[in-house]
Amino acid sequence: MSALHPACVLLLGHLWASCRGLHIPPHGEVARVARFVAHRCDWASMATVSTHKPVVGQPFSNVFSVSDGPDGSGSGVPYMYLTRMEISVQDLKANPQASLSMTLAQTHYCKQQGFDPQSPLCAHIILSGSVMEVNGTEADFAKEALFSRHPEMIGWPSDHNWFFAKFNITQVWVLDYFGGVKTVTPEEYFQAAPDGKHR
Ligand SMILES: *[C@@H]1O[C@H](CO)[C@@H](O)[C@H](O)[C@H]1NC(C)=O
Ligand SMILES: *[C@@H]1O[C@H](CO)[C@@H](O)[C@H](O)[C@H]1NC(C)=O
Repeated sequence: MSALHPACVLLLGHLWASCRGLHIPPHGEVARVARFVAHRCDWASMATVSTHKPVVGQPFSNVFSVSDGPDGSGSGVPYMYLTRMEISVQDLKANPQASLSMTLAQTHYCKQQGFDPQSPLCAHIILSGSVMEVNGTEADFAKEALFSRHPEMIGWPSDHNWFFAKFNITQVWVLDYFGGVKTVTPEEYFQAAPDGKHR
Protein backbone atom coordinates (compact mmCIF):
# COMPACT_ATOMS: atom_id res chain seq x y z
CA MET A 1 0.00 0.00 0.00
CA SER A 2 1.36 3.41 -0.88
CA ALA A 3 1.75 6.14 1.70
CA LEU A 4 -1.12 8.53 2.22
CA HIS A 5 -0.59 12.24 2.09
CA PRO A 6 -0.98 13.81 5.57
CA ALA A 7 -3.95 15.83 4.28
CA CYS A 8 -5.76 12.58 3.64
CA VAL A 9 -5.08 11.30 7.13
CA LEU A 10 -6.68 14.42 8.57
CA LEU A 11 -9.85 14.01 6.59
CA LEU A 12 -12.86 12.65 8.38
CA GLY A 13 -15.65 10.23 7.63
CA HIS A 14 -17.35 10.81 4.34
CA LEU A 15 -14.44 12.70 2.88
CA TRP A 16 -12.23 9.67 3.36
CA ALA A 17 -13.55 7.87 0.32
CA SER A 18 -12.95 10.78 -2.03
CA CYS A 19 -9.43 11.24 -0.72
CA ARG A 20 -8.59 7.60 -1.28
CA GLY A 21 -10.20 7.93 -4.69
CA LEU A 22 -7.59 10.41 -5.78
CA HIS A 23 -4.92 7.77 -5.78
CA ILE A 24 -3.04 8.51 -8.95
CA PRO A 25 -1.22 5.58 -10.56
CA PRO A 26 2.57 5.64 -9.96
CA HIS A 27 4.20 8.25 -12.20
CA GLY A 28 6.35 5.56 -13.83
CA GLU A 29 3.16 4.06 -15.28
CA VAL A 30 2.73 6.89 -17.72
CA ALA A 31 -0.09 5.44 -19.81
CA ARG A 32 -2.12 4.67 -16.68
CA VAL A 33 -1.60 8.22 -15.42
CA ALA A 34 -2.90 9.52 -18.75
CA ARG A 35 -5.98 7.29 -18.55
CA PHE A 36 -6.55 8.39 -14.95
CA VAL A 37 -6.46 12.09 -15.85
CA ALA A 38 -8.63 11.56 -18.95
CA HIS A 39 -11.26 9.78 -16.89
CA ARG A 40 -11.21 12.14 -13.91
CA CYS A 41 -11.70 15.32 -15.92
CA ASP A 42 -15.17 16.49 -16.87
CA TRP A 43 -13.96 19.16 -19.25
CA ALA A 44 -11.02 20.00 -21.43
CA SER A 45 -9.43 22.93 -23.16
CA MET A 46 -9.46 22.28 -26.89
CA ALA A 47 -7.27 24.17 -29.32
CA THR A 48 -8.26 24.31 -32.97
CA VAL A 49 -6.72 26.19 -35.89
CA SER A 50 -8.92 29.25 -36.14
CA THR A 51 -10.95 30.11 -39.22
CA HIS A 52 -12.15 33.34 -37.66
CA LYS A 53 -10.91 36.86 -38.22
CA PRO A 54 -8.63 38.38 -37.01
CA VAL A 55 -6.87 35.17 -35.94
CA VAL A 56 -7.25 32.98 -39.03
CA GLY A 57 -4.62 30.24 -38.93
CA GLN A 58 -3.76 30.84 -35.29
CA PRO A 59 -4.35 28.45 -32.37
CA PHE A 60 -7.70 28.99 -30.66
CA SER A 61 -8.30 27.38 -27.28
CA ASN A 62 -11.81 26.92 -25.92
CA VAL A 63 -13.56 24.93 -23.17
CA PHE A 64 -15.58 21.76 -23.80
CA SER A 65 -17.34 19.28 -21.59
CA VAL A 66 -15.94 15.80 -22.14
CA SER A 67 -16.46 12.29 -20.87
CA ASP A 68 -14.59 9.11 -21.69
CA GLY A 69 -17.31 7.01 -20.11
CA PRO A 70 -19.64 6.82 -17.15
CA ASP A 71 -17.98 7.03 -13.74
CA GLY A 72 -15.76 3.99 -13.27
CA SER A 73 -16.09 2.89 -16.92
CA GLY A 74 -13.58 5.06 -18.71
CA SER A 75 -12.82 4.07 -22.30
CA GLY A 76 -9.98 6.55 -22.72
CA VAL A 77 -11.77 8.15 -25.67
CA PRO A 78 -12.89 11.71 -24.90
CA TYR A 79 -16.43 12.16 -26.21
CA MET A 80 -18.03 15.54 -26.82
CA TYR A 81 -21.50 16.90 -27.54
CA LEU A 82 -21.18 19.53 -30.24
CA THR A 83 -23.17 21.86 -32.43
CA ARG A 84 -22.05 23.29 -35.75
CA MET A 85 -23.15 26.70 -34.49
CA GLU A 86 -20.18 26.71 -32.11
CA ILE A 87 -17.10 28.76 -33.04
CA SER A 88 -14.49 26.01 -32.54
CA VAL A 89 -16.66 23.41 -34.25
CA GLN A 90 -16.68 25.73 -37.27
CA ASP A 91 -12.88 25.56 -37.19
CA LEU A 92 -13.03 21.76 -37.07
CA LYS A 93 -15.10 21.71 -40.24
CA ALA A 94 -12.17 23.28 -42.09
CA ASN A 95 -9.51 21.31 -40.21
CA PRO A 96 -10.48 18.53 -37.78
CA GLN A 97 -7.02 18.49 -36.18
CA ALA A 98 -7.07 19.69 -32.61
CA SER A 99 -5.41 19.39 -29.23
CA LEU A 100 -7.13 18.68 -25.91
CA SER A 101 -5.62 19.35 -22.52
CA MET A 102 -6.87 18.12 -19.17
CA THR A 103 -5.40 18.56 -15.72
CA LEU A 104 -5.91 17.32 -12.19
CA ALA A 105 -6.09 21.03 -11.31
CA GLN A 106 -9.74 20.54 -12.32
CA THR A 107 -10.14 18.25 -9.31
CA HIS A 108 -9.41 19.07 -5.66
CA TYR A 109 -6.21 17.06 -5.88
CA CYS A 110 -3.63 19.69 -6.82
CA LYS A 111 -4.92 22.29 -4.34
CA GLN A 112 -5.07 19.71 -1.57
CA GLN A 113 -1.50 18.68 -2.28
CA GLY A 114 -0.30 22.27 -2.71
CA PHE A 115 0.69 21.75 -6.36
CA ASP A 116 0.46 24.73 -8.68
CA PRO A 117 -1.38 23.91 -11.94
CA GLN A 118 1.81 24.52 -13.93
CA SER A 119 3.85 22.21 -11.69
CA PRO A 120 4.51 18.82 -13.26
CA LEU A 121 3.42 17.34 -9.93
CA CYS A 122 -0.13 18.47 -10.81
CA ALA A 123 -0.56 15.80 -13.48
CA HIS A 124 -1.82 17.04 -16.83
CA ILE A 125 -2.11 15.60 -20.28
CA ILE A 126 -2.21 16.94 -23.81
CA LEU A 127 -3.83 14.91 -26.55
CA SER A 128 -3.06 15.43 -30.22
CA GLY A 129 -5.45 14.18 -32.85
CA SER A 130 -8.66 15.09 -34.58
CA VAL A 131 -12.34 15.40 -33.83
CA MET A 132 -14.71 13.00 -35.61
CA GLU A 133 -18.45 12.63 -35.47
CA VAL A 134 -19.55 9.23 -34.15
CA ASN A 135 -22.68 7.30 -35.00
CA GLY A 136 -24.37 3.97 -34.29
CA THR A 137 -23.39 2.09 -31.14
CA GLU A 138 -20.46 4.42 -30.52
CA ALA A 139 -22.86 7.38 -30.43
CA ASP A 140 -24.99 5.42 -27.94
CA PHE A 141 -21.92 5.00 -25.74
CA ALA A 142 -20.98 8.68 -26.16
CA LYS A 143 -24.48 9.69 -25.09
CA GLU A 144 -24.36 7.54 -21.96
CA ALA A 145 -20.82 8.76 -21.22
CA LEU A 146 -21.73 12.43 -21.56
CA PHE A 147 -25.28 12.58 -20.21
CA SER A 148 -24.38 10.60 -17.08
CA ARG A 149 -21.72 13.12 -16.15
CA HIS A 150 -23.26 16.26 -17.68
CA PRO A 151 -27.00 15.84 -17.03
CA GLU A 152 -27.71 19.43 -18.07
CA MET A 153 -26.91 18.43 -21.66
CA ILE A 154 -30.15 16.45 -21.83
CA GLY A 155 -32.08 19.73 -21.92
CA TRP A 156 -29.89 21.67 -24.35
CA PRO A 157 -31.95 23.21 -27.19
CA SER A 158 -32.69 20.65 -29.88
CA ASP A 159 -32.73 23.28 -32.65
CA HIS A 160 -28.94 23.48 -32.24
CA ASN A 161 -28.61 20.06 -33.93
CA TRP A 162 -26.25 18.58 -31.37
CA PHE A 163 -24.19 15.61 -32.40
CA PHE A 164 -21.77 13.25 -30.64
CA ALA A 165 -18.10 13.34 -31.49
CA LYS A 166 -14.92 11.76 -30.29
CA PHE A 167 -11.38 12.95 -30.03
CA ASN A 168 -9.38 10.51 -32.19
CA ILE A 169 -6.05 10.41 -30.37
CA THR A 170 -2.83 10.20 -32.39
CA GLN A 171 -0.39 11.08 -29.58
CA VAL A 172 -0.58 11.47 -25.81
CA TRP A 173 1.72 13.85 -23.92
CA VAL A 174 1.96 13.48 -20.17
CA LEU A 175 3.32 16.03 -17.70
CA ASP A 176 3.50 14.18 -14.41
CA TYR A 177 6.48 14.39 -12.12
CA PHE A 178 9.87 15.85 -13.06
CA GLY A 179 12.04 15.04 -16.05
CA GLY A 180 10.10 16.63 -18.86
CA VAL A 181 7.15 15.59 -20.96
CA LYS A 182 6.59 11.88 -21.58
CA THR A 183 4.83 10.49 -24.62
CA VAL A 184 2.46 7.58 -24.90
CA THR A 185 1.23 6.03 -28.15
CA PRO A 186 -2.51 5.52 -28.62
CA GLU A 187 -1.89 1.75 -28.42
CA GLU A 188 -0.15 2.03 -25.03
CA TYR A 189 -2.81 4.43 -23.82
CA PHE A 190 -5.74 2.18 -24.71
CA GLN A 191 -4.01 -0.93 -23.36
CA ALA A 192 -3.44 0.68 -19.96
CA ALA A 193 -5.73 -0.52 -17.20
CA PRO A 194 -8.47 2.02 -16.63
CA ASP A 195 -8.82 3.01 -13.03
CA GLY A 196 -11.79 1.89 -11.01
CA LYS A 197 -14.70 3.72 -9.51
CA HIS A 198 -13.44 6.74 -7.66
CA ARG A 199 -16.04 9.43 -7.18
C1 LIG B 1 -21.07 6.08 -39.41
O1 LIG B 1 -19.82 6.65 -39.67
C2 LIG B 1 -19.01 5.92 -40.55
C3 LIG B 1 -17.66 6.56 -40.60
O2 LIG B 1 -17.70 7.92 -40.34
C4 LIG B 1 -19.70 5.84 -41.91
O3 LIG B 1 -18.91 5.09 -42.80
C5 LIG B 1 -21.06 5.21 -41.73
O4 LIG B 1 -21.77 5.21 -42.96
C6 LIG B 1 -21.88 5.95 -40.70
N1 LIG B 1 -23.12 5.22 -40.43
C7 LIG B 1 -24.29 5.83 -40.32
C8 LIG B 1 -25.43 4.94 -39.99
O5 LIG B 1 -24.42 7.03 -40.47
C1 LIG C 1 -7.27 8.22 -35.71
O1 LIG C 1 -6.18 7.89 -34.90
C2 LIG C 1 -5.37 6.84 -35.39
C3 LIG C 1 -4.27 6.63 -34.39
O2 LIG C 1 -4.80 6.27 -33.16
C4 LIG C 1 -4.80 7.20 -36.74
O3 LIG C 1 -4.07 6.12 -37.25
C5 LIG C 1 -5.94 7.54 -37.67
O4 LIG C 1 -5.40 8.00 -38.89
C6 LIG C 1 -6.81 8.63 -37.08
N1 LIG C 1 -7.95 8.88 -37.93
C7 LIG C 1 -8.23 10.10 -38.36
C8 LIG C 1 -9.43 10.18 -39.26
O5 LIG C 1 -7.59 11.07 -38.06
